[in-house]
Amino acid sequence: MTRHVRTAIFPVAGLGTRFLPATKATPKELLPVLDTPLIQYAVDEAREAGIERMIFVSHPSKKAIERHVMEDARLTRELKARGKADIAEALSDAALCPVEDDARFVVQPEPKGLGHAVLCAKDHVLDGPVAVILPDDLILGQVGCLSEMAAAYASGEIGHLVATMEVPEDRVHKYGVLSVTGKDGAIIKADGMVEKPKAQDAPSRQAVVGRYILDASIFDALETQKPGAGGEIQLTDAIARGATDLGLGGFQFSGTRFDCGSKAGMLEATLELAAQDPECLEVLRARGLLQTRLVAA
Ligand code: UTP
Repeated sequence: MTRHVRTAIFPVAGLGTRFLPATKATPKELLPVLDTPLIQYAVDEAREAGIERMIFVSHPSKKAIERHVMEDARLTRELKARGKADIAEALSDAALCPVEDDARFVVQPEPKGLGHAVLCAKDHVLDGPVAVILPDDLILGQVGCLSEMAAAYASGEIGHLVATMEVPEDRVHKYGVLSVTGKDGAIIKADGMVEKPKAQDAPSRQAVVGRYILDASIFDALETQKPGAGGEIQLTDAIARGATDLGLGGFQFSGTRFDCGSKAGMLEATLELAAQDPECLEVLRARGLLQTRLVAA
């Protein structure tokens, strides 16, 4: 049985209600941090991890995601004709090519939850475990989070590996939370997880963020998964059901995670990247917005 991760699923069919009105006509996954849309960071991370097939679970009202992700030959030609070959080349490099790359777009007709979105990709995955990347969780670091996780997954025995980080007690109700049993290097061992628990019911403060490597049996679990928190089919619940038989681990990634599904998280990510951009750095300096950590970056 291979432990090599060949497929990444990008669930991008949600309503993005926390970011309205910005997401009324623009998909949340296309909101930019500086000049780069969230979905681009996610695609870059999957590429770095050597993913062979990318499956985008989207909605017909969010066609613009496909337009962004795929190469646009007409735009490339137009830019070149106007003497902007460097921009054309950068765009082409970032985009997925219909001939060379294996990208698929499937529809989730209604936003019935993250678990349901992942299930929509079932018929398109390659053999072996699958990765799930939530583009609104931006993770910045020296090494991509998915690369780190894929290496840990390949050399271990755990069936479901989820990215986790410790959060303050008053924030656990926003996350899936691990029921921790022990620790092995960067991996927190767990025997279950709960979606959005109240602080007093939370089994730990190890919160799940948007990167997963899941045993292929997750699809069977999702087929029979009943709606959970918020009336949605929760990926967390299906993962928890396999915890005992397959093993469940929380992976403590080395990068910094930004919740770009919220205004505050988006602002933090923007400030972080602005401090690394010479033009923006001047603005931050002029406004006295540089913290020590940003200067160091
Ligand atoms: P979120 O819960 O953060 O996204 O799901 P949302 O529901 O769009 O946003 P809010 O909470 O209303 O503001 C994380 C990812 O899962 C996708 C979203 O598009 C997002 O990329 N998702 C969520 C789906 O594809 N389908 C769903 O039914 C739910």
